Amino acid sequence: MCGIVGYTGKRCSITTLLDGLARLEYRGYDSAGLAVLEDGQLKLVKSVGKVKNLKKNVAATWPNPEKCTASTGIAHTRWATHGEPTEANAHPHLDGSGKFAIVHNGIIDNYLDLRKHLQEQGCVFKSETDSEVLAHLIHQCYEGDLLHAAAAASKKLKGTFGFAVICTDKPEEIAVARRGSPLVIGVGNNETLIASDIAAIAAYTKRVIFLNDDDLALITPDKIDIRNIENVPVSREIAKIDWDVAAAEKNGYEHFMLKEIFEQPEAVANTIRGRFDNKVFTSIMSGLNMSPDELASVKRIVIAACGTSMNAGMVGEYYFEDIAGIPTEVEQAAEFRYRNPIIEDNTMVLAISQSGETADTLAAVREAKNKGGIVAAINNVVGSTIARETGRGIYLHAGPEIGVASTKAFTCQVTALLLMALLFGRNRRLERHEGKNLINDIKNIPELIKQVLARAGEIEKIAKKYAKAENFFFIGRGCLYPTALEGALKLKEISYIHAEGYHAAELKHGPIALLEENVPVLALANDIPGKDKIIANIQECKARKSPVIATATVGDTEISELTDDILWIPHCSSFIAPIPTVVALQLFSYYIAKERGCEIDQPRNLAKSVTVE
Ligand code: AGP
Repeated sequence: MCGIVGYTGKRCSITTLLDGLARLEYRGYDSAGLAVLEDGQLKLVKSVGKVKNLKKNVAATWPNPEKCTASTGIAHTRWATHGEPTEANAHPHLDGSGKFAIVHNGIIDNYLDLRKHLQEQGCVFKSETDSEVLAHLIHQCYEGDLLHAAAAASKKLKGTFGFAVICTDKPEEIAVARRGSPLVIGVGNNETLIASDIAAIAAYTKRVIFLNDDDLALITPDKIDIRNIENVPVSREIAKIDWDVAAAEKNGYEHFMLKEIFEQPEAVANTIRGRFDNKVFTSIMSGLNMSPDELASVKRIVIAACGTSMNAGMVGEYYFEDIAGIPTEVEQAAEFRYRNPIIEDNTMVLAISQSGETADTLAAVREAKNKGGIVAAINNVVGSTIARETGRGIYLHAGPEIGVASTKAFTCQVTALLLMALLFGRNRRLERHEGKNLINDIKNIPELIKQVLARAGEIEKIAKKYAKAENFFFIGRGCLYPTALEGALKLKEISYIHAEGYHAAELKHGPIALLEENVPVLALANDIPGKDKIIANIQECKARKSPVIATATVGDTEISELTDDILWIPHCSSFIAPIPTVVALQLFSYYIAKERGCEIDQPRNLAKSVTVE
């Protein structure tokens, strides 16, 4: 929900912190701030709004930041959870003495009790946030050892945190702690960084250490001391990140989202790379760490996810049941742990999460583990909490997804689910030739996406015609039903148009009452089984004067004669159809949002990773 970055080393910490914050803005961007140690003093600058506003305030404090001698500091970009986006609520927060500054990501569930207790002891609070209690707690626990004070304070907290703290007594030190909110250490030469994720530090080092829950660390420019909450040293491996800063930049596209839409052929190619066994025509998913017997022991699959990842999971349900014959259901992750789910020892709970940090999905993983289920994950971020806590799963290798609206995550997740269904299917009743055909279809996905991308100009023209709509329906059947849900989610989140995804047959059970000439319907009418039924649904919509845009298989004149506009999709099987089709819907939504002048990469009210309940 928020972005944290810290630096200690040979460079000017201010420019490094501002650079890091700029790369974390997609995590939350309603206010920002930084605190640095300079000549034994804590210097604090905050701002409301985006990082660019903070840069202005920093320039007022340090007209020549390169000349600053502050080599240690922490910074934060906020997505408000407690308290409005104001300068007072922006991080960093100080204790009463002004010796300590903290930045925090997460939610401290017991902050009201702590705040009351601290106030009774004379502490004066300047913000409405839960995080500020940390600054006062650390001051109270401090007896000269910053790491020890951070550990003692952590023990008093309930809820989730990733925090960093600096102290005027310790000019080169930053203490950090994590529980439920990600923190990564960047290992440099005579410099050390910390951040909520690697995008903020990839420009400085490719050597990173992912902290686990209840890990703490004391970092200086040339030392990293990692301990658990009982102050026992723990060793954590240094991982090498496999993408550079350029990958996290826009590469000439107007928006990260557009870049990531156009990256999908390469992203899907990365997802499938090295994952086919062309001898027995199955997929290779070594990350699952499951023998053929263990695969065969899975009798039921429960998919837990949120948002776009849940829509991908709904496509996966069709795959697992139709291809592998395994009973499968999709659970809203937020509901999972509260509904006392039935998880037997031969149930696989599959968590799907691009960020690997979504709080509800992580909680579902923990609930499933607690109930003895087989737990696996499909993630994009290497070393993310969900990836590490499941210890079994598949990385998408799609590269960083910076745009808040998920695009390549969805297509790569669906592809990964298809690979998993092939693996389970060939472990059961799917025959060799069926496996071979499916592998050929999967290998062709990047090409199909390229063919849709080549029609971006056509799609943009159509999109502009509907940019003034205030309500939209997306309808589909079979695997294209969850695809319709995803298309509606895209349009909602970046254009702020009220768009609803519905099963095409469901319209007549109520929603059709809303149809009229200014309520367009996007019908997914690709030439796959069920097309005749969707044609009837299109006619029902036309009879209520709704304009109908359809996705249709290239050359399908029957659909083009029936509808107002067509988004052409290359011919492919019903299993593959969700992937090229959703790319057309992503572009359709993108161009409508652009026409409406919306803030596409960082839509209002949203954050890239929802790490709180
Ligand atoms: C989709 O465009 C949104 N960004 C959101 O629904 C997202 O898919 C959801 O929050 C889940 O995120 P995750 O995949 O990182 O767990």
